[in-house]
Amino acid sequence: MKMNGMTSLWARTALIWFLVTLCFGMFMGMTQQFNYAPAHAHLGVLGWLSSAVFALIYGVAREGPEGARAPQIHWAAHNLGLALMGGSLFMLLRTSDQSWEPFIAIGGAVIVLAALWLTVMMWPRLAAR
Ligand code: HEM
Ligand code: HEM
Repeated sequence: MKMNGMTSLWARTALIWFLVTLCFGMFMGMTQQFNYAPAHAHLGVLGWLSSAVFALIYGVAREGPEGARAPQIHWAAHNLGLALMGGSLFMLLRTSDQSWEPFIAIGGAVIVLAALWLTVMMWPRLAAR
């Protein structure tokens, strides 16, 4: 397993989302507002867990050009998409204002596009050797 730039960036990103998810979970429990569970759940699975898996994927993949833009674009898109989706979902659950819905959809779509981008980018680098 290698500790290249992207492995390190994703592993650190995972730790930040982990802390955010834990604090959110504690907030929900302490204030008895379990209706926030979908927002909390997605920060956990798409933030903490997915970021940790991305770090592992970069760790086992064939070396790419150091400092390349493509992996950095995926990192930015996934994290911005998740912040938009999670934040808007939180606001929708908090205010019941349906005008947050398009922002949840845009955030989700950005995450899906980022995932396609990652798949195309990493596919050749994950061939058996
Ligand atoms: C673009 C990405 C995603 C979108 C737009 C999305 C959307 C949704 C929606 C609409 C629900 C139903 C929520 C409800 O019943 O109130 C849901 C539930 C759930 N999703 Fe996702 N999902 C995404 C990615 C993922 C991923 C990658 C995972 C797992 C690794 C995941 C795990 C779950 C779980 C565990 C639930 C049930 C938890 C709960 O709502 O309390 N989701 N998701
Ligand atoms: C201090 C740590 C945490 C606390 C206090 C906490 C608290 C909670 C609470 C109160 C719920 C709602 C349960 C309900 O509706 O009955 C929940 C749901 C959930 N949490 Fe956490 N959580 C924590 C950490 C995490 C982490 C690290 C993850 C990582 C993925 C996670 C993933 C989920 C998921 C997927 C659900 C939705 C389950 C479902 O809808 O069936 N939680 N959490």
